[in-house]
Amino acid sequence: MAHTRSIVTGAAGFIGSHLAAHLIARGHEVVGIDCYDPAIKRANVAALLASPRFRLVDADLATADLGPLLAGADYVFHQAAQAGVRASWGDSFATYAHHNVLATQRLLEALTAHPPRKLVYASSSSVYGDAPLPMRETARPQPVSPYGVTKLAALDAAAEALTLEALERLRRGRTTFIIAHRLVTVRAADMIVVLEGGRIVEQGAHDVLVARGGYYRRLLDLQNGRVGHVAAAPVSA
Ligand SMILES: NC(=O)c1ccc[n+]([C@@H]2O[C@H](COP(=O)([O-])OP(=O)(O)OC[C@H]3O[C@@H](n4cnc5c(N)ncnc54)[C@H](O)[C@@H]3O)[C@@H](O)[C@H]2O)c1
Repeated sequence: MAHTRSIVTGAAGFIGSHLAAHLIARGHEVVGIDCYDPAIKRANVAALLASPRFRLVDADLATADLGPLLAGADYVFHQAAQAGVRASWGDSFATYAHHNVLATQRLLEALTAHPPRKLVYASSSSVYGDAPLPMRETARPQPVSPYGVTKLAALDAAAEALTLEALERLRRGRTTFIIAHRLVTVRAADMIVVLEGGRIVEQGAHDVLVARGGYYRRLLDLQNGRVGHVAAAPVSA
């Protein structure tokens, strides 16, 4: 039986190397992509390299020919980034823009030709800036650091459009369940179910829910920057 094939970008990093190990343990065949500094990251991948189901590609997502690496992937876990808030001010911003924005944009572009079953993007609480604790995913993204700006910009409107395009292709001819907090992702769904506190509070198509002016409409306005506050956490499908 063919293995599930997963791509882990940033596979030599802290999270990516552990994620790759877990996927291999679950029987996945893993291609790790990383432009790692050998001196720092070699230890992270040493154990992974012993597995016949792991292959490490030393490549920069911002410049490499990604198509051949992504073809046939079932899942893509995009962990690669220039992490860290403090170092992101000043001259090093160009490095952050390269590894976080440009690299992600190139990965998304390449994935439109090879859409996986799922793409997981590692964001950061830094996209919410100084939002009050405990931070919620419903908080308005308002980064206060250059790092947060680049993590958010990586999924800006253009990239979001590409993601939606890929999603649309995947939905064709299938019954699809989407769990989302960005409502644009579920806009075209036949049925949107809005949960609050684990209970269904509204359901219907996008236009119906918008016209109703209820909870979904308030969330939508919040995400479009038209209102200030909505209590409690939503999930829509
Ligand atoms: N560790 C945390 O506490 C934390 C918190 C919030 C978000 N995140 C996010 O999680 C992800 C993983 O974080 P981490 O702590 O493992 O970081 P890390 O620095 O340990 O690993 C990131 C890896 O990505 C690789 N990489 C960077 N740019 C690349 C490029 N252009 N092409 C290929 N590889 C590239 C690096 O070489 C590195 O090995 C990042 O996206 C980060 O922004 C991490």
